[in-house]
Amino acid sequence: MTAPVLEVSGLAVRYGKIEALHKAAIKVGAGQIVSVIGPNGAGKSTLLNAVMGALPVTGHASGRVAYMGEEIGALPIERRVARGMCLVPEKRELFASMTVEDNLVLGAYRRKRAGERNFLDQLEPVFALFPRLKERRAQAAGTLSGGERQMLAVGRALMGKPDLLMLDEPSLGLAPLIVKEIFHIISALRQTGVATLLIEQNARAALQISDYGYVLETGDLALEGAADDLAQNPRVIETYLGLAKKPV
Ligand SMILES: Nc1ncnc2c1ncn2[C@@H]1O[C@H](COP(=O)(O)OP(=O)(O)OP(=O)(O)O)[C@@H](O)[C@H]1O
Ligand SMILES: [Mg+2]
Repeated sequence: MTAPVLEVSGLAVRYGKIEALHKAAIKVGAGQIVSVIGPNGAGKSTLLNAVMGALPVTGHASGRVAYMGEEIGALPIERRVARGMCLVPEKRELFASMTVEDNLVLGAYRRKRAGERNFLDQLEPVFALFPRLKERRAQAAGTLSGGERQMLAVGRALMGKPDLLMLDEPSLGLAPLIVKEIFHIISALRQTGVATLLIEQNARAALQISDYGYVLETGDLALEGAADDLAQNPRVIETYLGLAKKPV
């Protein structure tokens, strides 16, 4: 059996004296969509940043992070990117004054530098996934709507042809229809073989497209299971899927 794409165990992260994540263990298999849901401040972004090696200098991680069966805890972020890991952070970090197309081309920069001749081969597939980006290819990224900006951030990540795509709250601040559109696209990415680790507060949308899910609460993984089972779990329904609006 081949190793999972990502396997994290005993991962703890502290910022100074405060431990924001306690002994987390998660697994993402090839071609899977796995989501981590949980409220504000639970440690979701901390988990993703630790996996990517992108914690702020004040953050310290311990535990094991294995990618494709190999421990990578000591690898700098550039090496993780070079091996096919990609994080779309909460702050999307687009180049506002550059066009949509130039932002996408930058997403392939690593492949270009690695000498790949066909480093732009994902441009048309990305435009096919996101026709709105194709229509706006010459528009400055800074003038895009929130939903379009989110599409651009995901599209730019795909230009690097990642094996593991990590998305930090792709639905943040978006209207329900756009959320639906984005999640539909994330779900469609499964066909490309990419493994996706999805962090979300929108539990309903996330579990609908996921194979497996984890619930993170104040630094601890409180629940886990097949996404369909989690969506039926009374506690998940009450806290995350109920009629009540998510806590602000
Ligand atoms: N650089 C930092 N220094 C100190 N504490 C931090 C730092 N970054 C995050 N924290 C704390 O760690 C905890 C987890 O934060 P994190 O950003 O991982 O939560 P989150 O689940 O992503 O929340 P949200 O849904 O609001 O994005 C919070 O209590 C936060 O205040
Ligand atoms: Mg966060």
